Amino acid sequence: MFEFTAPPPLTLYIHLPWCVRKCPYCDFNSHEVRTAVPEQAYVEALIADLERDLPLVWGRTVESIFIGGGTPSLFSPEGIDHLLGAVRARVSLKPGAEITLEANPGTVDQARFRGFRDAGVNRLSLGIQSFQPGLLENIGRIHDDRQALAAVRAAQDGGFDNINLDLMFGLPGQDIGAALADLRIAIELQPAHVSWYELTIEPNTWFHRHPPARPGDETLWRMQREGLALLKAGGYRRYEVSAYSRAGRECRHNLNYWRFGDYLGIGAGAHGKLTDAARQTVTRFAKTRHPARYMESARNRECLGAETLLSARDVVLEFAMNALRLDAGFTVAGFREATGLPFGAAAEAISASIDRGLLEIDRTVIRATPRGQRYLDELLQYWLAEEPRDAGIG
Ligand SMILES: C[S@@+](CC[C@H](N)C(=O)[O-])C[C@H]1O[C@@H](n2cnc3c(N)ncnc32)[C@H](O)[C@@H]1O
Ligand code: SF4
Repeated sequence: MFEFTAPPPLTLYIHLPWCVRKCPYCDFNSHEVRTAVPEQAYVEALIADLERDLPLVWGRTVESIFIGGGTPSLFSPEGIDHLLGAVRARVSLKPGAEITLEANPGTVDQARFRGFRDAGVNRLSLGIQSFQPGLLENIGRIHDDRQALAAVRAAQDGGFDNINLDLMFGLPGQDIGAALADLRIAIELQPAHVSWYELTIEPNTWFHRHPPARPGDETLWRMQREGLALLKAGGYRRYEVSAYSRAGRECRHNLNYWRFGDYLGIGAGAHGKLTDAARQTVTRFAKTRHPARYMESARNRECLGAETLLSARDVVLEFAMNALRLDAGFTVAGFREATGLPFGAAAEAISASIDRGLLEIDRTVIRATPRGQRYLDELLQYWLAEEPRDAGIG
């Protein structure tokens, strides 16, 4: 069914699952720290986890590392240094690989940032969310506007030139002026990258049980349109639904994910996706979610999670769910390389989406139209129905 000549590029995701406090909108696998983070035990569990996964990626180069959370900046620079040293000793890491760490204002200072930098982290992603004190309070953040600004300056003074700021819009109590003011402050700080997410209300969150009043659809649409123009004028190009960067500063790790590249995931609840070109399979991995159970399984060398073999149909849909988020879309060759399938496997979905004005094709490049980007879920409906065929125009 699949016809891979080689697997797609490989990256490594490392999940650190603790936070000072659980935010009311957050459905990530993050847990409030009760006493202290069991840093040493967790790092040892991560190393054991990686060692078990090594045979799955023998001989392959890791192109980038992303340490996400939770709040990875709760870990000490020494802990991160030990972790990255152990990773380097076990996998072949591409020279100059992008190594990102997520950090929260309120958990960092300049010395800590310098320590992360010395450990080999070369990109920081700061969870700012907003620069307005009232809005930060409305979304239950542990930091205020002054700490947000201080964190950005400390990261810059700590030697980081590749910084992402996470911001959100559509927050309870936020009007268009406040959303644009956040972007203006961000642009003035000149980060390499801005991620600007619309707040979504996820099941299993406090906000789902106690919905806050949020801006209406029309306001959200205006925020998005005017925010996009502001970011563009400030020198940031949108390359994915929520990701904006200066030229050449796109997040390489996330780009690989959106292009349906491979990734190994280690840590509590981490997900991975790996292509085996010898067996012609694509497998998803999910590690045990609960941190205590995860550490115990790693210590006892028990199974750390579940695996699922993907069908061609799964692969086509998952490819579309990711690649159609990119402004550049995908190419015919990119589809074949990432999915191992002939281009014909997506032909019906593509022509149905083009007929409805949701997708456009320009020679060998396929991308969502502005309408398709706005109604991505509708666009994906046509890919859901797709039954891949074995032969086709690819
Ligand atoms: C994995 S979180 C971790 C970052 C870090 N712990 C923090 O919150 O500062 C990455 C980003 O996802 C965004 N995010 C989390 N939950 C969200 C939601 N329900 N809607 C929109 N964006 C969300 C936030 O901007 C957050 O910074
Ligand atoms: S700090 Fe980040 S990961 Fe932690 S609960 Fe808040 S949004 Fe989630």
